[in-house]
Amino acid sequence: MAILLAPMEGLLDFALRDVLTRVGGISLCVSEFIRVTDSVLPERVFFRVVPELAHGSRTPAGVPVRPQLLGSDAACLADNAARLATLGPAGIDLNFGCPARIVNRHGGGAALLKDPEQLHHIVAAVRRALPTGLVLSAKMRLGFDDDSRAEDCARAIAAGGADELVVHARTKAQAYRPPAYWERIADVCAAVTIPVVANGEIWTVDDARRCVQASGCTNLMLGRGMVADPGLALAVLADQGATLAAGAADDPQGAPGVAGVAGDPATMPASVSATTTGIPRMGITRPGWPELRPLLLYFWQLNLAHIDARARAGRMKQWLNFLRRVYPEAEQAFTALRTVSDARVMQAWLHEHLGTPPDTAPGQDVQPGRHMPMADAAPSRTDVIGA
Ligand SMILES: Cc1cc2nc3c(=O)[nH]c(=O)nc-3n(C[C@H](O)[C@H](O)[C@H](O)COP(=O)(O)O)c2cc1C
Repeated sequence: MAILLAPMEGLLDFALRDVLTRVGGISLCVSEFIRVTDSVLPERVFFRVVPELAHGSRTPAGVPVRPQLLGSDAACLADNAARLATLGPAGIDLNFGCPARIVNRHGGGAALLKDPEQLHHIVAAVRRALPTGLVLSAKMRLGFDDDSRAEDCARAIAAGGADELVVHARTKAQAYRPPAYWERIADVCAAVTIPVVANGEIWTVDDARRCVQASGCTNLMLGRGMVADPGLALAVLADQGATLAAGAADDPQGAPGVAGVAGDPATMPASVSATTTGIPRMGITRPGWPELRPLLLYFWQLNLAHIDARARAGRMKQWLNFLRRVYPEAEQAFTALRTVSDARVMQAWLHEHLGTPPDTAPGQDVQPGRHMPMADAAPSRTDVIGA
């Protein structure tokens, strides 16, 4: 089994990717989207969203990060993908699921699911622009207004030359309202031969178990569930019987009828299988609050180093707001800090209640020789929120 960390613009940036991949269990991250309109973006834009590109496209814990492009113009996407490819990304992902009105009005994101031919055209153009061997993946919803063309869309993406497909099991119209229709992912799997990754509404180990069963997929992508519960990927892997240390992902439930998605690394594309070996982790099964405290302080330090002063307190509260779903201590912290917007006041509270920041970054020793302080890895970024 491979677990991917979802792209989440405005929430899951390089700082939170750094923190969450230190905890462990994640094989691959997909970055928040990089919007492509009518020009080839300067390199600094790619580095701003994915500073990991400066370090082999990996987080400090050694987990590959795949940049995601969002747009509707096939030629322009292809040109941008070609430039991005020169920066050594861990593959390139295409966004066919964004529900934002402004994006959809310009024909991008989920709006493309109304037009499988255009989907095919875009994927094929991007594929042609990329060097052989560079993984091209796509992420789609089940449809725009309804899910009647989900299989057509998946077939168009696969025929265009995508190597992997993530399916968020909802239509654009369903937005983020539960439930997610995992059983429809099984239909998509049956329609294509490329590996399919299931995504949507996995908050607990039990959700993951039910998603695997309903979708037939053994590869999962976790988004908000990982932000709320940073130990979720480790717990899911443990539950699925994955052999973490050996990197030999076994496949307890199998993936009946789904070609190329079995847990055997030999049947997965290199981008997924290679990352199932040597999964970085902090050496604990699942972080309790004592293990999470240094991670919160480290996240705060990253914010101090890279985020505009006015946005720092908001970033911290945003993460605490998710964590309080799982950790009562986060609920207390969130309640205490709810009205705090001054970064100095927040820092004083954090140091008083969580302790002083760690001398070394949490999980620094997980992959000897791989670690780099994120302060070096990330160019300064002042516009993270709402980028
Ligand atoms: C705040 C937020 C931002 C998101 N940004 C992106 C994005 O940039 N690209 C993308 O493909 N999906 C994006 N998504 C969708 C997620 O990747 C994921 O498909 C969705 O949250 C369902 O998975 P989950 O239930 O595990 O969170 C975003 C979702 C949220 C909540």
